Amino acid sequence: MSLIHETDYGTPPSRAEKSVTLSIDGFTVTVPEGTSLMRAAMDAGIKVPKLCATDSLDAFGSCRLCLVEIQGRPGTPASCTTPVAEGMVVSTQTERLKKLRRGVMELYISDHPLDCLTCAANGDCELQDMAGAVGLREVRYGYAGENHLEAVKDESNPYFTFDPSKCIVCSRCVRACEEVQGTFALTIDGRGFESKVSAGVAEPFVESECVSCGACVQACPTATLMEKSVIDIGQPEHSVVTTCAYCGVGCSFKAEMRGTEVVRMVPYKDGKANRGHSCVKGRFAWGYATHRDRILKPMIREKISDPWREVSWEEAIGRVASEFRRIQAQYGRGAIGGVTSSRCTNEETFLIQKLVRAGFGNNNVDTCARVCHSPTGYGLKTTFGTSAGTQDFDSVAQSDVIVVIGANPTDGHPVFASRMKKRLRDGARLIVIDPRRIDLVRMPHVEAAHHLPLRPGTNVAVLTALAHVIVTEGLVNEAFVRERCELDDFSAWAAFVAEDRNSPEAIEAVSGVPANLIREAARLYATGGNAAIYYGLGVTEHSQGTTAVMAIANLAMATGNIGRPGVGVNPLRGQNNVQGACDMGSFPHEYTGYRHVSDDAARTMFEQLWGVTLDHEPGLRIPNMLDAAIDGSFKGVYIQGEDIVQSDPDTQHVVDGFKAMECVVVQDLFLNETANFAHVFLPGSSFLEKDGTFTNAERRINRVRKVMPPRTGLADWEITVAIAQTMGIDMHYDHPSQIMDEIAHTTPTFTGVSYDKLDALGSVQWPCNEKAPQGTPVMHMDGFVRGRGKFIVTEYVPTDERTGPRFPLLLTSGRILSQYNVGAQTRRTANVIWHDEDVLEIHPHDAEERGVREGDWVRLASRVGATTLRAKVTDRVAPGVVYTTFHHPLSQTNVVTTQYSDWATNCPEYKVTAVQVSPSNGPSQWQIEYREMSEQNARIALPVDAAE
Ligand code: SF4
Ligand code: SF4
Ligand code: SF4
Ligand code: FES
Repeated sequence: MSLIHETDYGTPPSRAEKSVTLSIDGFTVTVPEGTSLMRAAMDAGIKVPKLCATDSLDAFGSCRLCLVEIQGRPGTPASCTTPVAEGMVVSTQTERLKKLRRGVMELYISDHPLDCLTCAANGDCELQDMAGAVGLREVRYGYAGENHLEAVKDESNPYFTFDPSKCIVCSRCVRACEEVQGTFALTIDGRGFESKVSAGVAEPFVESECVSCGACVQACPTATLMEKSVIDIGQPEHSVVTTCAYCGVGCSFKAEMRGTEVVRMVPYKDGKANRGHSCVKGRFAWGYATHRDRILKPMIREKISDPWREVSWEEAIGRVASEFRRIQAQYGRGAIGGVTSSRCTNEETFLIQKLVRAGFGNNNVDTCARVCHSPTGYGLKTTFGTSAGTQDFDSVAQSDVIVVIGANPTDGHPVFASRMKKRLRDGARLIVIDPRRIDLVRMPHVEAAHHLPLRPGTNVAVLTALAHVIVTEGLVNEAFVRERCELDDFSAWAAFVAEDRNSPEAIEAVSGVPANLIREAARLYATGGNAAIYYGLGVTEHSQGTTAVMAIANLAMATGNIGRPGVGVNPLRGQNNVQGACDMGSFPHEYTGYRHVSDDAARTMFEQLWGVTLDHEPGLRIPNMLDAAIDGSFKGVYIQGEDIVQSDPDTQHVVDGFKAMECVVVQDLFLNETANFAHVFLPGSSFLEKDGTFTNAERRINRVRKVMPPRTGLADWEITVAIAQTMGIDMHYDHPSQIMDEIAHTTPTFTGVSYDKLDALGSVQWPCNEKAPQGTPVMHMDGFVRGRGKFIVTEYVPTDERTGPRFPLLLTSGRILSQYNVGAQTRRTANVIWHDEDVLEIHPHDAEERGVREGDWVRLASRVGATTLRAKVTDRVAPGVVYTTFHHPLSQTNVVTTQYSDWATNCPEYKVTAVQVSPSNGPSQWQIEYREMSEQNARIALPVDAAE
């Protein structure tokens, strides 16, 4: 194994179709028009010395090291900023150029510490490389004059240092922050000799606008910006390409290693989802994988009030098998089930649903996608014929209008947000539909054309009002509808949306959005060119989540914004493998590839392959399992990678469900909240310890590769196989690639997928089969998967969750950049410095009415429960709306959320809860106890009485 070095071509590629032929150092080169001389030379294998250029950034031309001579032209132009021209004759290596370059390098080195032997970048420093490349042998200027060698190091960021004494002011960091990340946190202050890199207004990095994405660190050619992990451990010696295990963007990384220790994670330029960029979580927040809280030994106990007892794998797995068989014998085949997680690989998920269907003999399998994007699956399958987003991420570069609804990409999907911001800076128009003024509404060099601050719970009303404008103002793309959609359904839908009660003027009273804003946004979406919709859990986690997804699909079909690059309907998936969890058949009613369990052909195929008879009735969903447990008919569950107690709504009900079970088996990295109710704990492995695949929000199947052995001795898939075998179920695999082979063999949209293909292509987007052997970046190009697109009438039905005198405010929720979901991983990293508690955002007007000031403790109460957290007084939320995140178990936001759920999929209505906020003296007793116990690194049972 060796370190993977990706070629740096110096400047970005040109996309021009026309080619140009020229001669460089006697070699004939043909490249696209617009290519820089530097890149053309690299194509011919000629490395022109460079410092300020790198191919992730536009050429800047400041260092003067890349000079070349061009026949017939005076001077020595910079090759990074000079485009190729037909017939050009270029020399990159002449005596004059050598001398000039040495002179430039001499000046750099004369103001640079010569501590190469002890520098953390030794061996990975472009300045060092260039000194060698230009043949620098002496520096005539000493350190006697003015220099920057005593400049003070900034170590404020937990993950990287800034040592200005080593800075050559090449601006790569500043440009990376602007062009790649889009945060504009850095500037070059001063001029000439005085110029220096500055974060914010000469602030420490950690206090500036910096979001710690690390793009500047990656771009820096010297040790000025340097990962602390490299300073601590030393330079890596080999790398393995794998996939981030946090969000649904699915960024590819090189895990750079020394032995089995991760030195750093470097975003992989060939990664098609992230194109060499990352956010703070993927690049830096991997320390949880070796955190001391990791449980590394299996544990069992008779009762949940007993202490845990460490046991061997054999004993733990034997207990699971014997208990599950006992329960089935005593209570019936349907008394047990399995829950998989969107954090698991596709292969792990496939095995769990196979264990349940073929081994347990029922369909009681569900996934946490139930509580996030199940409405996407149902809504898009009904309208388009397939349960997935329509585009690849590259598509956004061709959008003219971008609609973001119920999503906060800069926090939730930061790397995709950077690509979206780039397109917005380049001229696309933005419509934000969200109760809260998310960052995208206004940030450096990005401003939404329209922000529709709708009341939580009124998505369907507003989406239908947008459709009203499109239909009544003659903005429908009739040719598209005629050619591609079911016409009867379209007519019924058009008549429905055209009714006066769906007009923006009528909906203004319901949604709080001024009618003219709805009208203008609808016109822009329908007439502004390629228009793409991106949406998140602010659409799905509602009692009408599925209806809202269908309303979005209706808009795209009515305007013809589907079936080509730049347009489409794009769910921004929350977790790393939400898409995969759904694809892999982990819902109780569907096999892999979204085939219903009552589909005779699919069921017979699995029955023949697995040698069993399968149940043709859908099994229990997670909420049904909990209800059945309380009723006494459901007694045992195997949960892999999901913390249901913390992440599902109405905590008290969830807890009651678990307490009623006889064998709860939790497989996870840490003793999570659900483990408080478990009888068997099986220690899981982190993404660094496993082979497999994740499927991201653009249906891209990415490889996850093992960079270190499982610290517990068994990979997660091996645990499932061991349970199956101990229960007497026929299940044998030697490697996850064989599981993928079975997935491919049984799933029409995956027939072309194999580990060999993924290794060869890097990744593929399903459908990948005979029709599309290289995968499918954009769906529904020549026709919808279901044949003709189906319009659905989207009647707005207000949620039963209503405000009133007791609970006059509406609570909605979301994520923050530095933390991830319930925080089990990110809370065990230095990311906590940015968000060490969840706070409640409240509008100044509502705060004043209640005598609440910034930072005060407030009691947040709904009709099902109450919790306490600090207030943040801000006009980011509208009057009548409060907002919080849900990353910390201490705040237990789900103590207040209700059991209302989506009519079609049971996805909980997390985004609308009627609440009251009142001043409080401080955290409640259970919170104080919880904090004290956590500080002692102890673990207590969840405060089940908190809601009372
Ligand atoms: S910090 Fe690094 S990238 Fe930024 S100007 Fe200095 S040397 Fe260049
Ligand atoms: S870490 Fe990212 S946000 Fe911070 S200064 Fe560097 S590029 Fe900008
Ligand atoms: S958390 Fe998401 S955006 Fe950040 S690096 Fe991981 S996959 Fe990429
Ligand atoms: S690399 Fe061309 S001027 Fe710096």
